Amino acid sequence: MSYILDTADAGERRRLDAQSALWDPGTIRALTATGVTAGWRCLEVGAGTGTIAAWLSERVGPAGRVVATDIETRWLDALPCPNLVVRRHDVVSDPLEEEGYDLVHARLVLQHLPQRTAVVARLVRALRPGGWLVVEDPDLAVLALSEPGHAAWRRLADAMVAALWEAGVDPFYGRRLERELRGAGLVDVVAEGALHARPAPDLAPTMLPVVERVRDRMVTGGIVSVADVDAVIFEFGNGGDPITAYSPLLVSARGRRPRPDADRGHPRPVARNETVSVGLLDAAAGRDAGLVARLTRLVNDVYAVAESGLWLPGAARTTAAEMAGLVAAGEIVVATVPDGEIVGSAHVHRVSDDTGEVGTLVAAPDHRGAGIGRDLLDFAERHGRDQGMRAIQLELLVPRDGTHPSKEFLRAWYDRRGYRLIDTRPMEDTHPHLAPLLATPCLLEVREKPLPPGPPARDEA
Ligand SMILES: C[S@@+](CC[C@H](N)C(=O)[O-])C[C@H]1O[C@@H](n2cnc3c(N)ncnc32)[C@H](O)[C@@H]1O
Repeated sequence: MSYILDTADAGERRRLDAQSALWDPGTIRALTATGVTAGWRCLEVGAGTGTIAAWLSERVGPAGRVVATDIETRWLDALPCPNLVVRRHDVVSDPLEEEGYDLVHARLVLQHLPQRTAVVARLVRALRPGGWLVVEDPDLAVLALSEPGHAAWRRLADAMVAALWEAGVDPFYGRRLERELRGAGLVDVVAEGALHARPAPDLAPTMLPVVERVRDRMVTGGIVSVADVDAVIFEFGNGGDPITAYSPLLVSARGRRPRPDADRGHPRPVARNETVSVGLLDAAAGRDAGLVARLTRLVNDVYAVAESGLWLPGAARTTAAEMAGLVAAGEIVVATVPDGEIVGSAHVHRVSDDTGEVGTLVAAPDHRGAGIGRDLLDFAERHGRDQGMRAIQLELLVPRDGTHPSKEFLRAWYDRRGYRLIDTRPMEDTHPHLAPLLATPCLLEVREKPLPPGPPARDEA
């Protein structure tokens, strides 16, 4: 467990009350959008003071049930709701029933947990097929805003972001939620944001305790001075002529666990040569732990060699939880040989209405030269066209300085296949959570190939 705010602190109750007043109306709108109604079984994770648990409990009525969990339950214990079960429970490590809930909700909890992606996977497993996950977390991108502009306020926002990172909190988790939920295999994913502009003193109850909590860390970090912190604290108390301050952006993301039969088809092998079949894995295979472990190992083993020197020791390309989510989303293509062994895989998905992406393309080292990469790319392009896409993209991680043999090979191959460079982005901007794991500064080259109707080009790479 890792939680930077002191749950036993009396001031924390005041902060949570102010937070609920700010965010409850939007949360209730998001929950209502799932269709939650009488008889539903709901899980409220990190329930805090329980305002949302109490709302759910009334909504689902006597035929329904709400389980409210937190590592500190004293406020929940006092709630007078007969259909509410309060559980002292750490969502990272304590057992959680599978397929038990129609709705799982966590607000302002996951950003605090370094294991957040694995926790999302657990919460998805806690849903019955067809059930909804609603995750709400802030993004501090807008925290520096004020009117009029205020230099100390901006520096404090930067320092706050740095201090939260250092404490294991992801200050930008909000922006990642849409992708996180899709990555976990959910469908019908929607993400929306809300923020509030208020006279600074009105936001003091939610924001000042956090400023004070990380004050020492911020000052030690050197981005902000004691005088800056004091200037901001002054503005929070300045009732005379207050500046306009902004809350964080709160992103509310929701998605539904697919029903294996209704939401996804069965395997669709489409390309075949004498030895290798290529097709999308059935979404239900996401529950096959052995298969997911083999795929994860294949990807990590191939990348350990193909990207050697780019990552710090111990950094893995993917995890079993992430892979299970991608398989469950129907986004993993595999190449198999006749005895069923998987000898290659790739991730295909949509990045916009008319553009697809193929990524994490790997071929087993002992099957090199059999055209597996080519077959996987052929499949991805054909699949994109079948889905009505105009273009397909891929990303290539390259060192910012110097060259890397595997990357030079891939650049040449992608060029031959018609993938043209359209953008180059620093990893810090696109994947800030992965950037610290790099052994050397890297860039992501984004390449795109148009998908005109007709058969894909072939070459012998
Ligand atoms: C910022 S509060 C949000 C409370 C409530 N969800 C809300 O939005 O009003 C975060 C809550 O998460 C709880 N929490 C922190 N780490 C947790 C963990 N590992 N498992 C369960 N709850 C946790 C804290 O005790 C706290 O009540």
